[in-house]
Amino acid sequence: MNAGTRSTPAPVVATGLGWPEAEPSGPASAAAGIRATDLGWPDDDATGDAADQLPAVPRETQAAQAAPTTGAPAAAEEQTPRVSRETGPAKADAAAAPPAPPASAGLDSPLASKLRDEARRRKELAALPLPRPATTRVITVANQKGGVGKTTTTVNVAAALATQGLRVLVVDMDPQGNASTALGISHQSGQHGIYDVLIEDMPLGEVVQTSPTSPRLLCAPATIDLAGAEIELVPMEQREFRLRRAIRAYLEQGGDRLDYVFLDCPPSLGLLTVNAFVAAAEVLIPIQCEYYALEGLSQLVTNIGLVQDHLNPQLQVSTILLTMHDARTNLSREVAAEVREHFGDKVLRTTIPRSVRISEAPSHGETVITYDPGSTGALCYLEAAAEIASQDDRERDRG
Ligand SMILES: Nc1ncnc2c1ncn2[C@@H]1O[C@H](COP(=O)(O)OP(=O)(O)O)[C@@H](O)[C@H]1O
Ligand SMILES: [Mg+2]
Repeated sequence: MNAGTRSTPAPVVATGLGWPEAEPSGPASAAAGIRATDLGWPDDDATGDAADQLPAVPRETQAAQAAPTTGAPAAAEEQTPRVSRETGPAKADAAAAPPAPPASAGLDSPLASKLRDEARRRKELAALPLPRPATTRVITVANQKGGVGKTTTTVNVAAALATQGLRVLVVDMDPQGNASTALGISHQSGQHGIYDVLIEDMPLGEVVQTSPTSPRLLCAPATIDLAGAEIELVPMEQREFRLRRAIRAYLEQGGDRLDYVFLDCPPSLGLLTVNAFVAAAEVLIPIQCEYYALEGLSQLVTNIGLVQDHLNPQLQVSTILLTMHDARTNLSREVAAEVREHFGDKVLRTTIPRSVRISEAPSHGETVITYDPGSTGALCYLEAAAEIASQDDRERDRG
C-alpha cells in the first residue's frame, strides 16, 4: 500500500520505457506510448491492456498500413480518422459485432492476433446476456484523488450496462458536472440538478433526464451550484442522509425498475461524498495505474470504515477497477500487482487501458460505448460492466 516502497520514477525512466517523469496526461502519455514502441510489441496483452497500442478494429485498414512503417500502434490510433464512427455497424449493439481481421495484416502478426483476440472477446460478450440484479444496486464510485477515472468509469460502465439492456441512473455528485457532460445532459447554472434535491428537497424524479444516447440511461445532473452544497449541508438536519432519502423515494415511486444507480463522487471526502456513501450499498474504487496511485487509498478505506460504523453498516467496497493501465510499463504492472495483492478478487480481471478514444468521447457528449463502439476502450468497459453484472449477490453480501 505504501507507494514509497515501490520503485521510484527515476529507475523506471532509466529502463527506457519512455515513461514521462511528470505525471502523465492524455496527449503526453500517448507520446510516451509512441516512444515505448522501440521495445516492440508486448506479448502479454491478452487481457485487453494497452489498447492504445492497437487501433480500434473498424479502423483496421489504416492501422495495418501504419503499423509496419511506424511500429507504433498508439500513433496509428492517433493518426487514424474516425472511420468507425461513420462505418461501424456496431453502434446499436457494440458487443455483438466481431470484426474481421484486415487482409493486409499477416496472419501471424501481432496486429492480426490482437484483432482475433478482440473478435473472440466480443463474441463471448454477445453470447452472455447480462443478468438483472434481484434488486436495484446502488454503487458509489469514489476515490478522493482527482483524475483517476471516476467519472470515465461511471459513465462508461453505466452506458455499457444500458447498451446491454439494463436500466441505469447516474447521479452526478461532482459540481464540475463531468458525468452530465459525458452523458449529453445539459447542466448550466440555474438549471435544476442534484443541488435542488440535496438542499431544496426537490424530488429526484424532477431533475432526472434521459441521455440522448440511450432511453435506458438516465442522469441526475450536477450544476456548479453544487459547489456551495458542501457548506450549505453542514447545519442541515440529517445532512448525511439527504441523498439516500431522495434515492429511496425515487426507487419506491413505481414505474420501470432501475437495475443500477451509480453515484459519481467529487475528488474529496466531504459531505457530498459522505452522502453518496450513505446512499449506496457498494463502493467502486477506480485506481489509476501510476506512481502515486495507492497514496490516499488507506485514508479512503478508513473513511469507508467510519461510514460503515456510524452511518451505513451495509456499505462494502465491492469492486476495484484499474484504469489507464499500460501493459508496456513496469510501473503499471507493479501497481496492478500490488492492488491485486491487497484487494484480492474485488479487483476486476478487466483493466482499462489508456485510450485516446476514451478521453475524447466526452467532448462529443458521449461515452466511448457509443462514440466508438469498435474501439478497444469500449470493449474493455463492456467487459468491466459484464464482470460487475455477474458479481454474485452472496459475494457482495459477504463483502
Ligand atoms: N482510460 C483512459 N484513457 C485515456 N484517458 C482517460 C482514461 N480514463 C480517464 N481519462 C482521462 O483522464 C482525465 C480524468 O478522468 P476522470 O474520469 O475525469 O477522473 P476523475 O473523475 O477521477 O477526476 C479525463 O480527462 C479523462 O478523459
Ligand atoms: Mg470526476
